[in-house]
Amino acid sequence: MTPAHLHSLCLLILYLAMGNGQDGKFSGPLKPMTFSIYEGQEQHQIIFQFQANPPAVTFVLNGETDGIIKIESNGLLYSISALDRETRAVHHLEITALDAQGMTVEGPVPITIEVKDINDNRPMFSERKYEGSVRQNSRPGRPFMYVSATDLDDPTTLNGQLFYQIVIQLPKIDDVMYFQVDNKTGGISLTRQGAKELDPVKNPSYNLVVSVKDMGGQSENSFSDTVSVDITVKENIWKAPDPMEIVENSTDPNPVKITQVQWNEPGAHYSLTTKETLPRFPFSIDQEGNIYVTQPLDREEKDLYVFYAVAKDEYGNPLSYWLQIEVKVKDINDNPPSCPSTMTVFEVQENEALGKRIGIFTAYDLDEANTVHSVLRYKIVQQTPECPVDGLFLIEEYEGKVQLAKQSLKKQDAPQYNLTVEVSDRDFKTLCTIEINVIDINDQIPIFEKSDYGNLTFSEDTAVGSTILTIQATDADEPFTGSSKILYRITQGDKEGRLAIDTDPHTNAGYVTIKKPLDFETAPISRIVIHAENPEPLVPGVTYNASSFATFVLVVTDVNETPVFSQFVYQAEVREDVAVNTKVGNVTARDPEGLGIRYSLRDDTRGWLRIDPTTGEIFSKAPLDRETEHVYQVQVVATEVGGSSLSSTSLFHLTLKDVNDNAPRLARDYTGLFFCHPLRTPGSLVFEATDDDQQTLRGFHFSFSLGSESLQNDWEVYRINGSFARLSTKHTNFEERVYTVPIRINDQGWPPLEGTVNLPVTFCTCVEGSCFRPAGRREGIPTVGMAVGTLLTTLLVIGIILAVVFIRIKNNRSSDKVENAQASEVKPLRS
Ligand SMILES: *[C@@H]1O[C@H](CO)[C@@H](O)[C@H](O)[C@H]1NC(C)=O
Ligand SMILES: *[C@@H]1O[C@H](CO)[C@@H](O)[C@H](O)[C@H]1NC(C)=O
Ligand SMILES: *[C@@H]1O[C@H](CO)[C@@H](O)[C@H](O)[C@H]1NC(C)=O
Ligand SMILES: *[C@@H]1O[C@H](CO)[C@@H](O)[C@H](O)[C@H]1NC(C)=O
Ligand SMILES: *[C@@H]1O[C@H](CO)[C@@H](O)[C@H](O)[C@H]1NC(C)=O
Ligand SMILES: *[C@@H]1O[C@H](CO)[C@@H](O)[C@H](O)[C@H]1NC(C)=O
Ligand SMILES: *[C@@H]1O[C@H](CO)[C@@H](O)[C@H](O)[C@H]1NC(C)=O
Repeated sequence: MTPAHLHSLCLLILYLAMGNGQDGKFSGPLKPMTFSIYEGQEQHQIIFQFQANPPAVTFVLNGETDGIIKIESNGLLYSISALDRETRAVHHLEITALDAQGMTVEGPVPITIEVKDINDNRPMFSERKYEGSVRQNSRPGRPFMYVSATDLDDPTTLNGQLFYQIVIQLPKIDDVMYFQVDNKTGGISLTRQGAKELDPVKNPSYNLVVSVKDMGGQSENSFSDTVSVDITVKENIWKAPDPMEIVENSTDPNPVKITQVQWNEPGAHYSLTTKETLPRFPFSIDQEGNIYVTQPLDREEKDLYVFYAVAKDEYGNPLSYWLQIEVKVKDINDNPPSCPSTMTVFEVQENEALGKRIGIFTAYDLDEANTVHSVLRYKIVQQTPECPVDGLFLIEEYEGKVQLAKQSLKKQDAPQYNLTVEVSDRDFKTLCTIEINVIDINDQIPIFEKSDYGNLTFSEDTAVGSTILTIQATDADEPFTGSSKILYRITQGDKEGRLAIDTDPHTNAGYVTIKKPLDFETAPISRIVIHAENPEPLVPGVTYNASSFATFVLVVTDVNETPVFSQFVYQAEVREDVAVNTKVGNVTARDPEGLGIRYSLRDDTRGWLRIDPTTGEIFSKAPLDRETEHVYQVQVVATEVGGSSLSSTSLFHLTLKDVNDNAPRLARDYTGLFFCHPLRTPGSLVFEATDDDQQTLRGFHFSFSLGSESLQNDWEVYRINGSFARLSTKHTNFEERVYTVPIRINDQGWPPLEGTVNLPVTFCTCVEGSCFRPAGRREGIPTVGMAVGTLLTTLLVIGIILAVVFIRIKNNRSSDKVENAQASEVKPLRS
């Protein structure tokens, strides 16, 4: 075979083995088509077989063939060597179909071949070695340099996506990374620890090995490259200045530069800020970072300023943390001492010994404490009055203790002294005033105007609150102090606390009043002893004597009082069936004067009770009945025997307990019960029974039965429940009259009580369901028969009279007419 034949054979084999055609077809007519083919494939690659459409016999190819894309005259499109996306990503071609004469039959038709990427290129760093520098304390995460690599593969596919990583950091202490790289951009920045710990003094340079990988770093098959990065750490000059001191009230012309801050790069914008709100902020900063004080400071206003310097970029974003600036204000002695108040008042008692401490006088100085500016010295410069001598007082130079210097004081000499005290610090003097009051001591006792207020007589019913006596004592100590105020206290004769004594605060007069009722019977005569005292204790050596005591005799006279019952209401309870003359209760009354008592009853409306006049025992006098009076209430009267026969009353309530002493009875009047006569079917009636005894909570429990054995053929009684029963007829054969049916009802109580009631049942002719019954159901009223009889008799008499008249007038009259007249007169009576 010739090489040409071999070539064709190879193409044929490929043609059979492969295909890249649109729609999965390998061959077809000529039309615009787009093919997608991976780069770097086999040398010979069949792309498509175009079929000639007569008269076309051959095809020609033009366009971006790069000499590697060909077409056979029979229409087979192929490449003779591998395509390369990085050389040409898209081939724009045209194919024309020609006839045998070489004339164009179809086309040119556009054919596009897109070359698809495969990862056939390695990423490469653009430089062999990188160098950079970073400031100490730079913001973590903000890149200070970049590394970059390129990859020729399609960046829209993973093949061209790069991934940066730090492989090695040297030195690395405690496995802490100070640097990080953005895995996409290659930007290198400090980590949080790096921003905190990097220090050019400790270690000024670091070396990193950074790798870059394609396939987004995610594939085992990605290509990679590495590069070395040298980093120099530079000192951070954005540092807080040391705290500083400024002397207050400076006379230097303002503003005065006090310190400076500086950002690591030029072009920063500086400002100051505070965290506290201040009435004034006497500092400023300029755009070189110089900080000034703008006004004189005053330590007494504020002794320490803490504020912050801020650096921002041109967009107003903070470049770094704030720097704290601390300014202490230094004291000068610019404040004179000041008095604690306009007037300091001390008190001292008369007769105090020499050296007695009167008080401590403390003035103030606003200048800084514990410095020479605030050390104060005291000196007395004047004493008013100088009586009896000058120099009665002294003050300790540094501590301010005021003492008696010469002699003890007498209020008679002067009740008050004013001292002028000079207080000085190193540069200033201030005058302060101390007022010293000489106070009286309790050396005088209260003296009564008289020691005996005589005999006072009051009746025992004198009202509580009445004032019975005014007493008076006086005290020579200073008025309106605890040394002269008088308290009166009863020390004898009133253990019961019947009396009280109030003192008038202005006059010290004492008012003796009755606090509890007086009682002739327990305390007819009392000798009352009153002691007048001061609330303040007496000074040693002085004691109360007899002049501080007074007495009077309280005579209580008797008033005849009514007897007093031991209780307001007496209550008792008995069974209602107690026998006559049973004791049901008792009452007790007492006469305050000790007279005898007679008892009696009042309002015993039912006459049930009597009371023993001497013992107060109460007895039943007649049978009691709970059903009449559930609680029987009477008044008991106690009357003094002798004296003025005063009396008083109390109440006696007697509760009667129920006894089953009432037989059951019909609950209502049952005279209206009737059956229509003649009875067609047996009928029945319902009736109710009741009882006057106390009902149980569940009502009555009666039993019912016929009152006579002989009625059992005619009647039947049936119990419905505890209080209702039904009476039924046993047949229909009753006469038209009133039957009285006796019924026995038992209350099943304890003991059981039985009653027999008569139930009247009427059988009568009915008209429209109502009983049309002869009058005279009730006794005394004539029955129908009697009425008819009476009528007949009357008519008969009339008839006889008429007959006599007729006979008299005409002898041939018959008695038939009289009988007709009788019949027409009879009329039914309706009940
Ligand atoms: C790449 O960095 C981003 C943040 O910048 C991160 O979210 C992502 O997880 C990183 N990728 C890998 C594979 O570490
Ligand atoms: C400041 O000093 C001047 C004298 O230099 C003095 O007159 C003034 O009272 C002082 N001001 C204050 C607030 O201490
Ligand atoms: C002490 O000073 C006060 C207030 O100035 C004054 O009222 C008083 O009379 C003075 N006392 C004497 C004893 O001078
Ligand atoms: C007071 O009463 C007593 C007896 O209780 C009597 O001895 C005395 O004389 C009376 N005094 C006066 C002043 O009436
Ligand atoms: C009680 O003492 C005062 C002086 O404190 C004196 O005047 C009075 O006489 C004394 N009274 C008696 C009863 O001793
Ligand atoms: C009166 O009754 C009370 C109890 O209620 C009793 O202690 C007293 O002895 C009775 N008095 C008489 C005289 O029965
Ligand atoms: C007893 O029976 C009567 C008649 O049937 C009825 O009205 C009543 O409510 C009953 N009473 C009770 C407590 O059941």
